[in-house]
Amino acid sequence: MVNAHRPLIFRDPPDHDTLRGIVMKEFTIARVRDSHAKVATLVDALIDKCRGRDTVCLVDDLSCPLPVAVICELLVVPEADERQFHAWATRLATALEPDARHDEAGRREIAATFDAISDYMRRLVREKRRHPADDMLRGLAARGGRGRPAMGDIDLISTAILLLVAGHETTVNFITNGMLTLLRHPDELEKLKADPERAPRVIEEILRPEPPVHFRTRRALDDIDVEGTTIPAGSSVVLMLAAGNRDPARFTQPDRFDPDRNDNQHFGFGGGLHYCVGAPLARVEAEIALVTLCRRLVAPRLLDDPPPYRAGASLRGPKNLGIAIAGIA
Ligand code: HEM
Repeated sequence: MVNAHRPLIFRDPPDHDTLRGIVMKEFTIARVRDSHAKVATLVDALIDKCRGRDTVCLVDDLSCPLPVAVICELLVVPEADERQFHAWATRLATALEPDARHDEAGRREIAATFDAISDYMRRLVREKRRHPADDMLRGLAARGGRGRPAMGDIDLISTAILLLVAGHETTVNFITNGMLTLLRHPDELEKLKADPERAPRVIEEILRPEPPVHFRTRRALDDIDVEGTTIPAGSSVVLMLAAGNRDPARFTQPDRFDPDRNDNQHFGFGGGLHYCVGAPLARVEAEIALVTLCRRLVAPRLLDDPPPYRAGASLRGPKNLGIAIAGIA
């Protein structure tokens, strides 16, 4: 059993692999498949709320509320507490930003929010252990061999918080960057509307030039040789995922948005042993959101291009995306 305060995204093997293995056992294909209907219902309900308006603020109206509602559904957080979860997720959105850790006030606010959400999760886990049910958090809280918990309570809580934080702002940016890209390429928007089967190609190509996570940081545990250059053990390393996605040696016309390109292996979800565990869920959310937006927004048009962007260099996406519409289908 491993049990420490740092969430698994910041941990190394062997602890990382143990924790990730437990999460992967719960993040099953069946659970992601089951989320399709719920995501579709949520997306339609959020779009219905925009009826009667001639503009949509995509971030507030759809991209932001959707991922929190989906993760609450997956962890089976009581509906009455969802509003609180939205507030926590928004406040913690910057927690994964390296810049956030340099600002004293920001650090204090993040710490206070972590304390509040940890207390909440502790109570929720206790409740779930008392009333067994088939949900993801209950699965994570289950006993391992010889009746011992597979994850200690501290790891359990930090994993549950990580699932909320890692899957929030990233998915918000994915949907918003996606709609921004489609509005800048109206021919592609029309093609997707006419043929929703194109969605997997479209969303992979959105992740390549417009990845929600631009870089991640690491510390080299050993000397590492990269094509004749040695990165000495102990060095800080910045993995520029977004630059890799536009590497002209890897992609022809890398700045061109082209959903029909082949061999589109990008770093949108990272790579290697920390590869995103939520990628299948994020793909479902983005695919359903974008296809439904294309189908239901009548004559959508960007209000500001470029739109205002959020501060922070690591997680990249518009603060808001104003879209003029002629109605809701
Ligand atoms: C479009 C949406 C998403 C993007 C772009 C994204 C991106 C990423 C990236 C780049 C990493 C690698 C981090 C690293 O190498 O240090 C990562 C890891 C991770 N992601 Fe996502 N993510 C998304 C959605 C989600 C969702 C929905 C969840 C869960 C509900 C999630 C949970 C995680 C977790 C737990 C890790 C850590 C995995 C590990 O350390 O082994 N992500 N994500």
